[in-house]
Amino acid sequence: MDTSAYLKAHIRTVPDWPAPGVQFRDITPLLQDPKVFRVLIDVFVHRYMARGQRPDVVAGLDARGFIIGAVLAYELGVGFVPIRKKGKLPYTTVQESYELEYGSATVELHTDAVQKGERVLLIDDLIATGGTMLAGKRLLEKLGAQVLEGAAIVALPGLGGVQRLRDSGLALHTLVE
Ligand code: PRP
Ligand code: HPA
Repeated sequence: MDTSAYLKAHIRTVPDWPAPGVQFRDITPLLQDPKVFRVLIDVFVHRYMARGQRPDVVAGLDARGFIIGAVLAYELGVGFVPIRKKGKLPYTTVQESYELEYGSATVELHTDAVQKGERVLLIDDLIATGGTMLAGKRLLEKLGAQVLEGAAIVALPGLGGVQRLRDSGLALHTLVE
């Protein structure tokens, strides 16, 4: 079995959650099994350890992007910065809002989280509409950072996010569709 199929076999689909008709892709089984968790992290480590691909900083999206982003940053020997949902970060922040199916959401980043010109890897567990990752990209760019790539375990291309992110000029790396 190739790595993508191996990882995919450890993603659980929960029907009708959080709302009727939604097929929720749950990555917790990937994290729970230490062998699978190691494979998952190692795939990202190998990619971002490579020459020219190594970021200065890893930025993780709230909340599941923190789990993989923090471990990856540790392994790469670079810092980790959290992009959080509104109202959670204590210091001065920049903010970006994006549309959800009903209403909108806002994410924040500390103003000193990244420096101008730093090369940042932006990471999350999953890309659906792409709204969360696009807002994260904008936050990093507001502070003058360069987003090297957006990475996620899962892409749900049917929801349009992959195309939307590519159209925004963001390079993407995902492991499972
Ligand atoms: C999920 C997921 C991504 C985002 C993807 O997070 O972890 O961050 O949605 O959706 P999008 O591509 O349509 O923006 P959620 O907002 O459910 O937050 P959580 O991680 O705190 O549960
Ligand atoms: N899984 C996890 N997060 C999500 C999903 C999903 O299927 N859809 C939108 N955000």
